[in-house]
Amino acid sequence: MHAPTLRLELVPLGRSLDVPTGTPLQDVLFPLGIEFPCGGRGRCRGCRIRVLEGHLPVTPEDERALTPAERAAGWRLACRASAQGDLRLELAQWETPVLADETPFEFPPQPGLGAAIDVGTTTLVVQLVDLMTGSVRGVATALNPQARHGADLMSRVEFALQPAGAPTLRDLVRSEIGRLLSSLIAESSTGETVRRVVLTGNTVMHHLFAGLSVEPLSQHPFETPHDGLQEFATADLDWPVPGDPPVFFLPCLGGFVGSDILAGIAATRLHETDQLTGLVDLGTNGEIVVGNRNGLLCASTAAGPAFEGARIAHGMRAASGAIAGVTATGGTLEFRVLGNGRPRGLCGSGLVDAVAVGLDLGTIQPSGRLGQGREWMLADPVSLTQADIRQLQLAKAAVTAGLRILLERSNASPTDLACLHLAGAFGNYISRSSARRIGLIPLPPERVRPAGNTSLLGAKLALFAPRSALDYSDLRQRIRHVSLHLDPRFHEIYVQEMTFPGQA
Ligand code: FES
Repeated sequence: MHAPTLRLELVPLGRSLDVPTGTPLQDVLFPLGIEFPCGGRGRCRGCRIRVLEGHLPVTPEDERALTPAERAAGWRLACRASAQGDLRLELAQWETPVLADETPFEFPPQPGLGAAIDVGTTTLVVQLVDLMTGSVRGVATALNPQARHGADLMSRVEFALQPAGAPTLRDLVRSEIGRLLSSLIAESSTGETVRRVVLTGNTVMHHLFAGLSVEPLSQHPFETPHDGLQEFATADLDWPVPGDPPVFFLPCLGGFVGSDILAGIAATRLHETDQLTGLVDLGTNGEIVVGNRNGLLCASTAAGPAFEGARIAHGMRAASGAIAGVTATGGTLEFRVLGNGRPRGLCGSGLVDAVAVGLDLGTIQPSGRLGQGREWMLADPVSLTQADIRQLQLAKAAVTAGLRILLERSNASPTDLACLHLAGAFGNYISRSSARRIGLIPLPPERVRPAGNTSLLGAKLALFAPRSALDYSDLRQRIRHVSLHLDPRFHEIYVQEMTFPGQA
């Protein structure tokens, strides 16, 4: 007779497994590459998992190693747990590295605290800021809990259009941000009043948080009439924040280009420059801005998940064991592996490097074709497949075609760009020379500037702005949104950009 089985769903790995009831989770997770740094003795916290659905009882080791807030949020030590019923679990080792922001900025000092919040499709970042000194008192991060209902924007929109979908997504993100904010205030404040909370994010995040219909974003022309500044009271959000500060979600720029990019423009001061300057946020949804003090154009383009290491045969997030860099010396491959351990997979920056090296070695043709076979072994067991290269070609073509269209409409070419800011985590870690080698960034590395989390920096600047300036009407009037899918040249340029540059 067989033991009864139960189902384990592992997020964000995207794996479902049927295992016998009572199976120690260590036995299931270790073969999947999850590490148990202290050997499963319950001392290091490195094996943390979070129960999203189902029940895992708290063990004495959980009580010792995890805070009450962590346990209440569902965190457990995988090494001490065994499954007794169906479970949906989030694995801490697969968390995306979250980019906070520590860039110095000018501000008018004022008493109290403020909270700047970057509402990303994948991650949430909350910073508590001392408004007198401008210093960051504390940072809290988490995966966006909406991700369990779809990794990219369109699947999130599709879920929102199902019955009860939109309220579910609204409540998930509001309660997770409320939890992060209140634990941050409890840890980092000394009783000061919180004066203002500012959120930034793309248009879908803006609408879902605010409870606005995303229906206009589900079909042509993908424009929404409700893209303005949204204001809430903490009581409406059920956030217990001392001082009951007003909460603002900054306005969007058009289509899928949201306040993350508005904040990015404010943070990089693109609208004040004399020379032609660009800002690119490389993610599942690539967002692009080109312009200067005379005016700016912006657009978004569906790049797909390759830059995040997803839908790649050995793809993984930039966590321990990820190949994050590849070089070739005298034809011999060398790897930079996060955590310096055994390679387990390839993250976005490693993928770009591997393809750049493959082009230099002639292992990969400019057409994207692998010279020999359909797989290139990098470091056992991690290989690069023909389909992986195709995913990167799609992502690269979407971004470069978008950039070229905006430049054409500005009567300029890539060589006219004095500087290109790369926003976001991927833009921070990617090798600029490899990005140029694959044709993703058509500029010499010295003109490309990793800009960090500009969405969060822009949200911090808004903590100090007069209330009347928070709709950014002056700046928004100078930015024009371009719908790439309506441009007859987009498809033609996209197809051209599928190929990689020939020998450098
Ligand atoms: S492996 Fe160290 S606490 Fe679980």
